[in-house]
Amino acid sequence: MKINGATESDIEAIISVDHVAAHDENRRRYICEWVSGDSTILAIVDDAVVGYAVLEYTFFWQGFISMLIVTEASRRKGVGTALVSHLEEICKTGKLFTSTNKSNEPMQALMQSMSYEPSGIVYNLDDGDPELFYFKKLDGNR
Ligand SMILES: CC(C)(COP(=O)(O)OP(=O)(O)OC[C@H]1O[C@@H](n2cnc3c(N)ncnc32)[C@H](O)[C@@H]1OP(=O)(O)O)[C@@H](O)C(=O)NCCC(=O)NCCS
Repeated sequence: MKINGATESDIEAIISVDHVAAHDENRRRYICEWVSGDSTILAIVDDAVVGYAVLEYTFFWQGFISMLIVTEASRRKGVGTALVSHLEEICKTGKLFTSTNKSNEPMQALMQSMSYEPSGIVYNLDDGDPELFYFKKLDGNR
């Protein structure tokens, strides 16, 4: 598996792995912005994009993983772990945050397996499905 930074030529491939982008124009617009902002990394297996992740600094100026998706066929093979590990390496801040819905057990299990700590709950974003925040302190001087 290779982890690469995404460029404009990867946008179609990113849209094809993101099931929301297929029917949501806003998501496609975000994808274009993330790629042009140099915020997106790809997981590539056999020349095919099997997942992508986005790292931004708009959350209280801290590193924040705002998107992480692995294609269904490639799940439970370490792709999500590889993407998050890469973001930990390149993150410019000493703290890395992310969040997921309470209903998203796979993401919560991934966070636990990578030693992320719970960092609070925000209600009222998605009705009836609170957003759980996670945090990891990164090593090194950043
Ligand atoms: C969450 C997601 C990114 C995980 O990606 P992945 O490539 O399957 O994760 P990994 O293979 O690296 O999993 C690492 C560990 O996390 C845990 N884990 C991941 N998915 C799990 C699941 N469905 N059930 C239980 N544990 C799970 C396991 O401990 C796993 O290790 P193991 O397979 O050796 O048991 C993937 O399920 C996904 O894309 N989901 C849809 C999008 C999404 O919810 N994104 C996150 C919120 S924005």
